[in-house]
Amino acid sequence: MALTDSHGREITYLRLSVTDRCDFRCVYCMAEDMTFLPRAEVLNSDELVALAEAFVALGVRKIRLTGGEPLVRPDLVEVVTRLAALPGLDDLALTSNGARLAGQASALREAGLQRLNISLDSLQPQRFRELTRTGRLDDVLAGIAAARAAGFRRIKLNSVILRGRNDDEILDLVDFARREGLDLAFIEEMPLGRISEHDRALTLMPSSEVLATIASRHALLPSLENSGGPARYYRMADSDSRIGVISPHSNNFCASCNRVRVTASGRLLLCLGHEEGTDLRALLRGRPGDREALMAAIRAALPAKPERHQFTLDEPPQVVRFMNMTGG
Ligand code: 5AD
Ligand code: SF4
Repeated sequence: MALTDSHGREITYLRLSVTDRCDFRCVYCMAEDMTFLPRAEVLNSDELVALAEAFVALGVRKIRLTGGEPLVRPDLVEVVTRLAALPGLDDLALTSNGARLAGQASALREAGLQRLNISLDSLQPQRFRELTRTGRLDDVLAGIAAARAAGFRRIKLNSVILRGRNDDEILDLVDFARREGLDLAFIEEMPLGRISEHDRALTLMPSSEVLATIASRHALLPSLENSGGPARYYRMADSDSRIGVISPHSNNFCASCNRVRVTASGRLLLCLGHEEGTDLRALLRGRPGDREALMAAIRAALPAKPERHQFTLDEPPQVVRFMNMTGG
């Protein structure tokens, strides 16, 4: 029954975008002026649950809800409750910008959400505002505190490091993670969508430099734990925090890729670095309740999963869709 692609990779992980909307406009993720999908084009909660059921029936064991920002969706707690109840799903996680977590972390935890990733690129209020264009650092810090208070374990921060913009905060972010008992992953910016504020070729900060900066202060021990994902993790002898790097440019991790994505509008994407997709929404709406048809469509799409991404810093970018369509 397992979902296997033509390169022998078994797909056990679905990243499901629940909205393309976001209350932030991060400079590496979005244009300043964005047009979002009309609401009718975004999958409703029944459609999200039907999709999740089909993927779980095909062997998916982990689902991460992404966006946009999942917490802007009014029925998110309902969606989490229904997904958490699916037999066979071992791990239900969510990626958030943190801004609305103060109000929702405990409800999400009670609904059955197991794990949280929170994006945090700066600990300086003014710079945080510049990088997110609309965000307030204090909201996110309150969100992180609320997530901890709600009992989430092994909360992970994600930081996209841009040379010349926040690369001087690497050690501050590590200290914050150590102090707060959080894991932290540093991500190389990926060339998704046409952005306006910086030249990605100039701001690309290779993970090797991030690691060298951290190693100047803390001895890093390669960690044997691997969440199965693209991150390479390290530990420090005097802390429980794990430090990871995700290096889509400098370390290709596609050979062990176990994931597919579904966009907020129900397109099945087989690779973040490729544009092709399969419209599952047409099927969800044309044949509601027909799980067999959905499973057959997913199975039929899978052999086309590309062997690897090939990110280049060409302008214009090869992938024109922004990250908010697909989640990080
Ligand atoms: N490259 C790398 N990471 C990105 N994210 C958003 N856009 C990009 C990009 N172009 C990150 C966010 C967040 C996660 C959801 O994806 O910072 O941590
Ligand atoms: Fe929103 Fe996340 Fe994109 Fe920032 S990176 S604009 S928080 S979806």
